[in-house]
Formats: sequence, C-alpha cells, structure tokens
Amino acid sequence: MRGTSVKILMANDHGAVELKLLLMRHLESKGHDVRNLGVDSSDSVDYPDMAALAAGEFGKGGWDFGILLCGTGIGISIAANKLPGIRCALVHDAFTAEMAKRHNDANFMALGGRVDYAIPPEAIVDAFMAARFEGGRHQARVDKITALERRET
Ligand code: RB5
Repeated sequence: MRGTSVKILMANDHGAVELKLLLMRHLESKGHDVRNLGVDSSDSVDYPDMAALAAGEFGKGGWDFGILLCGTGIGISIAANKLPGIRCALVHDAFTAEMAKRHNDANFMALGGRVDYAIPPEAIVDAFMAARFEGGRHQARVDKITALERRET
C-alpha cells in the first residue's frame, strides 16, 4: 500500500462521525480513494447495519481494506466478524494496528469515536497501512480462522 492510492471503505454509526471525518480527511490528503458508507449526522443508527453494509461492499471486491467506527469500536467489530471473509481487528494503538496486519492479515480495522487514544488515530491507521502480512505460520492460522467460519473444524 506504500506510495500508491489505496482503496478504503469506511462505515460508522452516530458514535463516530467526527472520527470518520478526521480519518477521511487524513487519508484523502494522502491521495487515497475513500468511500464513505457511514452516517454523517448524530441521528442514531445501529452499528450492525453499518458493518453489514461495509462487508457487503467489500465482498464485491476491489477494496484494499476497510475502517469501521462506532462509539467504542467494539460493537461494530463484533458484528463485522460474524460476516464471511471479514477479519476485523479492534485496534488500540500503533502496535496492535501493525500486528493486526502482520499476523492476522486483518482486512478491516475498528476504532471508537468515544475512545481517548494515546496517539492520534490517524497514526494508528498509518501503522496498519505501513505493515505487511508475514504469511508463513500466520497464513496457516488465518486459514484456520477461515475454516472456523466455514464450519470445517
Ligand atoms: C451507540 O450508542 C454505541 O453503543 C455504539 O456506537 C458502540 O459503541 C457499540 O459498541
């Protein structure tokens, strides 16, 4: 993802409108192609609906990864991980964001609009985007996640 435009899906509930706008501005300022599937007002919506919307779009292909946001990031990540093909990491800092890609090959990351992060959330997203999946033994583990999803084990 370094040096080229990255295609990023974003979805959020009412608990993370400001965070979504902050991250969109950050990513677009770097030339990335961001699609906003989330809400832009404080009117209440249900985070599972936003997760399903993003997962459905991601499943059509052509997206590099997605960012899901709710008040805590918890609900929307739980919901997203029920959906086929989604590995959504609820990340807290640069380390967990980096490892979500290096070890888990996460295709979504989740953050919370009501969370007070120790570093700017843009830096958390940057850490995820700078990391690369390591494959090898981690691929075997990701394959086991996929098998669980397919009820093969
Ligand atoms: C909505 O009030 C809130 O519950 C939601 O944004 C999220 O934090 C749930 O996990």
